[in-house]
Amino acid sequence: MKKALITGINSQDGSYLAEFLLHKGYNVHGTIRPGTLKNGAAGLWRIQHIVKKIHVHRASLENFKSVYDAVRTSRPDECYHLAAQSFVKYAFENELPLINVNIVGTSHVLCALRKIVPECKFYFAGSSEMFGLVKQSPQNENTPFRPRSPYGISKVAGFEFTRNYREQYKMFACSGMLFNHESPRRGMEFVTRKITHTVAGIRLGLKKELILGNLDALRDWGFAGDYVQAMWMMLQKKKPDDYVIGTGKTHSVREFVEKAFACAGIEIQWTGGGRNKKGVISSFDSAIKHLKKGDLAVRVDPAFFRPSEKKALKADANKAKRVLGWKPGLSFDELIRLMVESEIIQLINNRKGSKIK
Ligand code: GDD
Repeated sequence: MKKALITGINSQDGSYLAEFLLHKGYNVHGTIRPGTLKNGAAGLWRIQHIVKKIHVHRASLENFKSVYDAVRTSRPDECYHLAAQSFVKYAFENELPLINVNIVGTSHVLCALRKIVPECKFYFAGSSEMFGLVKQSPQNENTPFRPRSPYGISKVAGFEFTRNYREQYKMFACSGMLFNHESPRRGMEFVTRKITHTVAGIRLGLKKELILGNLDALRDWGFAGDYVQAMWMMLQKKKPDDYVIGTGKTHSVREFVEKAFACAGIEIQWTGGGRNKKGVISSFDSAIKHLKKGDLAVRVDPAFFRPSEKKALKADANKAKRVLGWKPGLSFDELIRLMVESEIIQLINNRKGSKIK
């Protein structure tokens, strides 16, 4: 039975990957941060349904000994290094924790693997944020990196560590340059989950407005459950390599908002808008009883703008398609529907204490 170690197993991607690997018959180990359990099991909500089938290790990426111990006790055949400080906006305000977790942490994981199980195959979770201010679109494996955020810089550093371990120590080390990937398990700070959670709340009369930043920001959004399969596929090849993973289609935040409201049965009309404009930019024209026409619906708040916004990033995932046989599954519309419906079900369950499945 193959053994896998997933750093950050309680994350969105960690939870989908753990499910996927269990299904493939792997013995699955994963790390969580030592503070995860300080409020009971709440920090494990994404993996609660599989927690008895996996081995959970507490490890802090900043602390070499704890990373070393997790590798020593699990002795993995494959290691998926997903743990990171992943919310791009935090890092603009505070760079040091990001550097410690994302850069130092990646070096710790690679170093521990090299010392204990150098034959272990390694996956590094790179990001489209590494491309930053691009001169060519769509982006593929040959597109130069010009990161525009501390987060993007930290991912370039992790990518280079991974490449270096592959070339210098001949380890089987790959990077996936993943574009945005979402799901009902996304953290609330990310725009897609913020939108779907709030829209569901508005639908049920629990919330009145959705406050967002740049509605014109463009992203290439796919479904996280599809993307973790690409990670696994990379480690099954004969040779280690790096791959871009994305859908090749971009959409604006505005479009995501419209579709999310539509999935909840609410038609919205934009009544104004524009960068940095405060106040009402849209109003409802809907049949929902608890909302009157003209009620606040979507408001733009400059606090949610980024100090620097990248140009539209769009994945050219042809190499992954050709070499790995990977392609995205859920479409943009299907992804939004999945997220909105699961939020509505969850909110109803929370409210009534009853269970809808
Ligand atoms: N979070 C957030 N909140 N973003 C907003 C908001 C808001 O209220 N309003 C507009 N946006 C815009 C942001 O400016 C950004 O352009 C876009 O929505 C997406 O933001 P996020 O969902 O926070 O994701 P991200 O693109 O910054 O980063 C995600 O994807 C990367 C892959 O490309 C993260 O998952 C990264 O960890 C990942 O590497």
